[in-house]
Amino acid sequence: MPESSVRSQDEQRGWLRPLPNGKQVSALGFGCSSIWAKAGFDEGRAFEILDTLLAEGVNHLDTGPSYGEGLGEARLGRWLKGKDASSLVITTKIGTNLVDGRIKRGFAPDLVMRSLEGSLERLGLDKIDILYLHGPAAEDLGAAVFDLFDRLKADDRITWCGVNSFDNQVLMKAAQSPLDVAMLQYNVADFRNLAAMEALVAAGKLVMCGTALARARFLPTNFLPTSPTKLWYLLRLMRQEPLFPITGLRLAKRLRETGKDPAEAALQYLVGHPQIVSSLFGTSSAEHARANARAGHGRLANRQWTRLAGCA
Ligand SMILES: NC(=O)c1ccc[n+]([C@@H]2O[C@H](COP(=O)([O-])OP(=O)(O)OC[C@H]3O[C@@H](n4cnc5c(N)ncnc54)[C@H](OP(=O)(O)O)[C@@H]3O)[C@@H](O)[C@H]2O)c1
Repeated sequence: MPESSVRSQDEQRGWLRPLPNGKQVSALGFGCSSIWAKAGFDEGRAFEILDTLLAEGVNHLDTGPSYGEGLGEARLGRWLKGKDASSLVITTKIGTNLVDGRIKRGFAPDLVMRSLEGSLERLGLDKIDILYLHGPAAEDLGAAVFDLFDRLKADDRITWCGVNSFDNQVLMKAAQSPLDVAMLQYNVADFRNLAAMEALVAAGKLVMCGTALARARFLPTNFLPTSPTKLWYLLRLMRQEPLFPITGLRLAKRLRETGKDPAEAALQYLVGHPQIVSSLFGTSSAEHARANARAGHGRLANRQWTRLAGCA
């Protein structure tokens, strides 16, 4: 069993975790992306989800210019109006740039700066807490982007810089780079980034995780296409993991063995992980948003946590 698969009680952290500048981030965050960021998703419902999360103490909100081709950021910006963003941790991305109304991939400083200006405008913010490189290749991690990040920090436009990637080679290179944060994919169904996560933490980087619920593949009934949202989820998961009705049931069994609801167990596995600062989930439902935030305040017993980690 890898060393990181065993956890002692005193390694469990609280709900709010301190960041290096003293600001705090909640153990769970919300991804202002996916279906939430689509034009067909009712904005009142989108706001209700954010209101619910805020009331439950979730202060970490992740978005990007490619989500809904700017709508994810614009919607989040409309919700932020009149709120004190200094108590929130807002993150967005460059690399999947929105320029002249189109997504243009690339990390050339001129291109990403144009995209970032648009992101700040849509969000109604002067400064981003974490700006991620979205899906770079290993060769994109070089002096051009590092110098740009230095300038953005000096100009007080960003607090930290990071990479959002699920590519082990990229993450390993990030561990040896000046980047501050990595958002990777690690959850109860996907341990492929474990070694990279360990290298990043050893190098002093902050680690955030995307897809905290493993896309809820442990609830096959969630994917009966009874609404446009569920059909969208079904098509996305079929593309990603065609065998999910089988693998999902196996995962559900493993999660239920903790004695908890599978979604609760999946979230508490990440919240109780000593190497992860905050994990991002998505939802189209205010009820799920509330349940998830509340689950994030609870913990798995060490034995249950170690059993789930032992599958790594
Ligand atoms: N993997 C990636 O491609 C990627 C890339 C970059 C960033 N991220 C970050 O990670 C965030 C989360 O990823 P994600 O939304 O793709 O995956 P996820 O959070 O792992 O899963 C979302 C799925 O879980 C369901 N769900 C949520 N709460 C539930 C509950 N309490 N009970 C049952 N089902 C529940 C949702 O359905 P309902 O709508 O019915 O709740 C939805 O089907 C993103 O928004 C983004 O910020 C991910």
